[in-house]
Amino acid sequence: IEAFFQPKLLQGKHVLVTAGPTFEAIDAVRGITNSSSGKMGYAVARAALEAGAAVKLISGPSCLKPPLGAEVVNVVSAQQMLKAVNEAVNWADIFIGVAAVADYYVLNPSEQKIKKDAHILTLELAPNPDIVSNVVNLPDPPFCVGFAAESENLYEYAEMKRRRKNLPLLAANLVQTAVGGDENELVLFDDVGAHPLPRAPKITLARQLIAHIANLYQKTLTMKKQNG
Ligand code: CTP
Ligand code: CA
Repeated sequence: IEAFFQPKLLQGKHVLVTAGPTFEAIDAVRGITNSSSGKMGYAVARAALEAGAAVKLISGPSCLKPPLGAEVVNVVSAQQMLKAVNEAVNWADIFIGVAAVADYYVLNPSEQKIKKDAHILTLELAPNPDIVSNVVNLPDPPFCVGFAAESENLYEYAEMKRRRKNLPLLAANLVQTAVGGDENELVLFDDVGAHPLPRAPKITLARQLIAHIANLYQKTLTMKKQNG
């Protein structure tokens, strides 16, 4: 019922969301991943739907049931996530990167299960593409929102990350608070400064984030109009 009464701040807009972790294969059964349940990203997708948007949700491996009405694309690796994002990004007015993308992939994953022995096993890791940065640097990008998971120095690292990635808005959380649970605490960083959102259920924070995004997005539209 609460969902139904959310203001339709994004009526008719197209919102693309990434969520969950990515999984980078080591062999047929093993891989490297990040701790991420997908709860925050799925909550953001749900809040965008409640706000009247059409939503595409690109999700890494997660056990969650996607919000009703979202178009879901399931992916495994960061490279698959990038491909799925690229296929949907021209459709999007707003891009929200909530996924905990693995920063590295395994260079030569084995097709067969690696057998253990007594030796040291060395894996070669190569950097993954940065999906959010790819989107921001498109010729006519959607309004882009990033997330940052930090384990310390949240304010300093998050604002640095926002500037480095050239994002109008970045939502930061501490991994110790964020991962796995149903509640979280966010700090939103934009050109004005830092806006802390106190501890609350992830869906409540997601609704607050969507309201903030709708406000900034509206302002950028108005500015674009003024500048012809
Ligand atoms: N991100 C991404 N593609 C990557 C890595 C990160 O799109 N290969 C996005 C995340 O979805 C998030 C933002 O970038 O929106 C920040 O992710 P984070 O891991 O906090 O930042 P990094 O730039 O990867 O820096 P680091 O992990 O070193 O802190
Ligand atoms: Ca990272």
